[in-house]
Amino acid sequence: MNNSRLTSSLFIFLSVFASWGSSSSIFDVTPNSEDFITCLQSNSINTTSISQLTFTSSNSSFLPNWEARINNFKFLKPSIPKPSVIVTPVDETQIQTVLFCTKKLGYELRIRSGGHDFEGLSSIALAPYVMLDLVNMRSIDVNVANRTAWVQAGALLGELYYAISQKTNTLYFPAGICPTVGIGGYLSGGGYGNLLRKYGSAADHALDVRFMDVNGNVLDRKSMGEDLFWALRGGGASSFGIVLGWKLELVPVPEIVTVFRKNVTLEQNGTEIFYKYQYVAPKMDRNSIMRIQVFNEFIGNTTTKTIRMYFEGLYLGRTNTLLRMMDQSFPELNLTREFCEEMSMVQSSLVLGDPSFPSSTPTKMLADRTGGIVKHWNNKQKSDYVRTPISKSGLRKIWKKIFENDNTLFMAMYTFGGKMGEVSETATPYPHRAGVLYQVLKGITFSDQTSDTTPVSLTRIEWLRSFDKFLEPYVSRNPREAYLNYNDLDLGVDSGSYEEARVWGDRYWKKDNFKKLIRIKAKVDPENFFRHPQSIPVFSTSLADM
Ligand SMILES: Cc1cc2nc3c(=O)[nH]c(=O)nc-3n(C[C@H](O)[C@H](O)[C@H](O)COP(=O)(O)OP(=O)(O)OC[C@H]3O[C@@H](n4cnc5c(N)ncnc54)[C@H](O)[C@@H]3O)c2cc1C
Ligand SMILES: *[C@@H]1O[C@H](CO)[C@@H](O)[C@H](O)[C@H]1NC(C)=O
Ligand SMILES: *[C@@H]1O[C@H](CO)[C@@H](O)[C@H](O)[C@H]1NC(C)=O
Ligand SMILES: *[C@@H]1O[C@H](CO)[C@@H](O)[C@H](O)[C@H]1NC(C)=O
Ligand SMILES: *[C@@H]1O[C@H](CO)[C@@H](O)[C@H](O)[C@H]1NC(C)=O
Ligand SMILES: *[C@@H]1O[C@H](CO)[C@@H](O)[C@H](O)[C@H]1NC(C)=O
Ligand SMILES: *[C@@H]1O[C@H](CO)[C@@H](O)[C@H](O)[C@H]1NC(C)=O
Ligand SMILES: *[C@@H]1O[C@H](CO)[C@@H](O)[C@H](O)[C@H]1NC(C)=O
Repeated sequence: MNNSRLTSSLFIFLSVFASWGSSSSIFDVTPNSEDFITCLQSNSINTTSISQLTFTSSNSSFLPNWEARINNFKFLKPSIPKPSVIVTPVDETQIQTVLFCTKKLGYELRIRSGGHDFEGLSSIALAPYVMLDLVNMRSIDVNVANRTAWVQAGALLGELYYAISQKTNTLYFPAGICPTVGIGGYLSGGGYGNLLRKYGSAADHALDVRFMDVNGNVLDRKSMGEDLFWALRGGGASSFGIVLGWKLELVPVPEIVTVFRKNVTLEQNGTEIFYKYQYVAPKMDRNSIMRIQVFNEFIGNTTTKTIRMYFEGLYLGRTNTLLRMMDQSFPELNLTREFCEEMSMVQSSLVLGDPSFPSSTPTKMLADRTGGIVKHWNNKQKSDYVRTPISKSGLRKIWKKIFENDNTLFMAMYTFGGKMGEVSETATPYPHRAGVLYQVLKGITFSDQTSDTTPVSLTRIEWLRSFDKFLEPYVSRNPREAYLNYNDLDLGVDSGSYEEARVWGDRYWKKDNFKKLIRIKAKVDPENFFRHPQSIPVFSTSLADM
């Protein structure tokens, strides 16, 4: 990320793009992967290097490369369209060449960092496409003295946490819970995590960026201007260009934090406890955060169902202080020492990121791409935000609705409040700020099914949709908010007009931010090269005329 690299990138960019000019029309031809390889070769300085990083269906490692980091098994079925070419560049000039040839030959481009996209939008397209996989662009440079880190887009959150912990145990980055999420996709959607109540979203702590626009220019915050820098911090970068890396602000954390975990069932007063949770947790000391996972289970060997609520939390301090605080503000949970464990911040990322690991697991596991932490799943998920506490009778109705499900639901409530209430809704595109009590994620799994299209899977998806509809009176409205990083194509994909697009766009960003994103998109990518089913649309009339 130094200046000499920027200069050399720009030099090569000039030679590559000289013949291309600024014209960027969408080509009306059927692309051919051999032409693409020829284009890559003839525009690369080192043809050996690019050839070793390029895969087509004739390479035996093509499928394994595509499948790597598609952790959601539902996308691995044979009917899913594969890329014509996969390229895994090792430097920015190679990315410029990939962009140039993708445009020239009329392919769509898919950009992949960690590959966790809920709808597979980083790895799949319906039209012929090239997949730019940033797996080899993952260097991390932590600067303790200045409390900053430069992170390339392909790095995973666990790699970042581990890299920070190798240099200091009193600084951290406020990012997400799952260590295998990529910083590239995560930060460009806002990003929440265990330091959210103390420090806000991850994107609130982005200081600078390296970014490649549709013409191959490498830009930073200063050269792109504040509007585009704003858009990249919650608007979804894949609508605008390619994020190469972020400069992050690190935040202070104590050397010792406390993790707590406790199960509560309906028989143990679960409804009362959850009801109270909604009032106290979003207002508690911002050094604390709680997640509640809701499971629908049989009681022992019986056929009677219950709800198990799994309370999991982090406190930025020692157990004694946490217990005193909980005893005062949330005695109903009856949190006692046996449910608490003190550890370092980085250990907390490991045990809260993957509960199958005890706190004695070496934290290097966070950065181990081949190790046990890379889990797979097979599911469909939807998000919500709750702004008004749900009544006890409402909660009982929700449990009853959940009992209809065949124990394949998972649901997680994530506490907001604290710092999130102090940042304006328009400070970044991410609008779910003041007044949100908690975020809801709900989904169903197909892990016992051969695919997401078996009759049983289809019934589950229908049930999830009916549950989503059922929750409408209990969650945010006008708009009913949804999290971009929990993208859901059920919200809509039409974008022929602003009125069509706002059906889903207002839910991710709210009206003002969505309109601003549309204006920025029209400036930086007017031909709509960077597109996918829910990318920021380009309209023929400007918003000002509407
Ligand atoms: C198991 C799991 C746990 C999660 N936990 C959290 C959490 O704790 N907090 C949270 O906020 N979110 C969480 N998420 C959601 C996560 O933030 C999003 O799925 C995010 O988009 C993943 O980023 P990625 O780089 O892994 O994904 P990818 O699939 O690689 O990318 C996602 C999107 O970003 C685009 N993109 C990726 N890299 C770039 C780039 N360099 N330049 C431009 N566009 C790019 C892709 O094209 C795609 O549109 C979780 C998701 C999963 C599956
Ligand atoms: C070209 O790339 C190959 C493979 O990465 C490398 O071994 C070689 O040294 C490179 N050549 C030059 C001139 O940089
Ligand atoms: C894929 O196959 C082509 C043609 O045989 C070869 O040139 C290229 O190096 C292969 N790519 C990789 C990554 O092995
Ligand atoms: C910290 O930042 C300042 C100002 O940008 C810079 O001059 C200094 O060299 C940096 N310190 C370190 C240790 O990188
Ligand atoms: C919570 O309950 C689940 C399922 O019974 C169990 O696996 C887990 O260990 C329990 N956790 C705690 C902290 O009690
Ligand atoms: C359940 O909650 C009620 C009301 O707060 C309380 O009176 C009762 O003692 C609780 N029961 C248990 C088992 O904790
Ligand atoms: C549940 O049933 C199995 C098999 O019938 C039995 O072995 C087990 O002890 C039962 N468990 C409980 C908690 O009743
Ligand atoms: C609180 O928990 C302790 C230990 O876990 C238990 O002994 C006690 O009975 C519980 N109190 C209530 C009111 O449930």
